[in-house]
Amino acid sequence: IMSSRTFFVGGNWKMNGDKKSLGDLITTLNTASLNDETEVVCGAPTVYLDFARSNLDARIGVAAQNCYKVAKGAFTGEISPVMIKDCGVEWVILGHSERRHVFGESDELIGQKVAHALESGLGVIACIGEKLEEREAGTTEEVVYAQTQAIADNVKDWSKVVLAYEPVWAIGTGKTASPEQAQEVHEKLREWMKANVSEAVADSVRIIYGGSVTGANCKELGSQNDVDGFLVGGASLKPEFVDIINARA
Ligand SMILES: *[C@@H]1O[C@H](CO)[C@@H](O)[C@H](O)[C@H]1NC(C)=O
Repeated sequence: IMSSRTFFVGGNWKMNGDKKSLGDLITTLNTASLNDETEVVCGAPTVYLDFARSNLDARIGVAAQNCYKVAKGAFTGEISPVMIKDCGVEWVILGHSERRHVFGESDELIGQKVAHALESGLGVIACIGEKLEEREAGTTEEVVYAQTQAIADNVKDWSKVVLAYEPVWAIGTGKTASPEQAQEVHEKLREWMKANVSEAVADSVRIIYGGSVTGANCKELGSQNDVDGFLVGGASLKPEFVDIINARA
């Protein structure tokens, strides 16, 4: 039996595209037949947030890929949730592994960003995931629990949070967690939520999978009980993203 949680498919364009190629992608998405029971959100580069929101159909959400932990001030190069909202954008991706491991963001900073983004009225796609050496050392649970704790400590209203489990070894590597590997971690995260947050939140929170999701593997991944959608990298820039959105159709 499928859960009552609305399937959620996020695209993370990362630092890719230009007005021409993203415009073409937006046209593809606007004119595609999309499962209307799936919530779709595209994560655009900061400079294209306004462009994406202005051009994407209203049925498709837009997310920023990062933001800072305060509303305004002397923080050269940063953007705030209030600015994101001012562009009509309703989501932000926080704690992505590239923010953690390329730009050195700590659990503490990510937690502060989550708190401020939620207080500002944005929805948050909060990312967690273990590195290859952590999986091989058998510390996957320990790592993702600690990351989830740092997020959970900063959440009052879980209805605006989607948790994205993205094993770092599967991001952009072409290596995908098997459906069983994804389900195993998602199920443990839901048990963690039940024990450490509440049963109601555990039942309702969307836990989505990220890491080399493609049109070819999305149906099997998306049929797992505790996989409530995807955060898609490379394939979200291709027409194939439509097949992923329609994984449960
Ligand atoms: C509750 O959280 C603690 C700390 O992360 C963790 O050790 C424990 O396993 C969690 N409970 C469950 C049932 O997951």
